[in-house]
Amino acid sequence: EKALAELVVGHVVDVPDFPHAGILFKDITPLFADGPAFRQVVDGVVDHHGRSSFDVVAGVEARGFLLAGAIGYATGAGVLAVRKAGKLPREVLAASYELEYGQATLELHRDAIEPGQRVLVVDDVLATGGTAEATLALIERAGGIVTGFSVLIELAFLNGRDRLAQRDVHALLTV
Ligand code: PRP
Ligand code: MG
Repeated sequence: EKALAELVVGHVVDVPDFPHAGILFKDITPLFADGPAFRQVVDGVVDHHGRSSFDVVAGVEARGFLLAGAIGYATGAGVLAVRKAGKLPREVLAASYELEYGQATLELHRDAIEPGQRVLVVDDVLATGGTAEATLALIERAGGIVTGFSVLIELAFLNGRDRLAQRDVHALLTV
């Protein structure tokens, strides 16, 4: 666990004032670009939850897709796409959440999940938890069970974890 945290630390670039003044952006693209490091991260997430604890992996557009695709392939579990509004072509469930300014909406195909299917949700960063909360709501409304949630980085001072009560919230690195 500590080794994985150090791996993340070593591959994250802090970018001040992006996308707005006062925001310190955690750029994780170098971690995805380093093949051996990326593989260790993917394996670390799967090991934490255990392969037998989920049936499918859900990734949150856009940055969560990178991690979800790799986990879905490595485990043979496959991937569900939780997308920004208006991108999915068939009937969707939608969940909105507050941003710093205004609202955002995530969507999931209504028939994406078999009843009782166990879903591991992954994203790059847990900040305020709005994205994660909306994602978990969508999966549950679609009939799934969220058995795990992993992010590369948790920004603990934003208390996003508090919005995901009673769930196994796993971060490779907490800052
Ligand atoms: C970022 C990040 C997480 C989310 C975390 O995504 O990738 O998904 O914010 O923030 P929260 O916990 O406060 O909701 P963003 O919405 O910027 O979109 P992107 O992944 O498409 O870049
Ligand atoms: Mg995102």
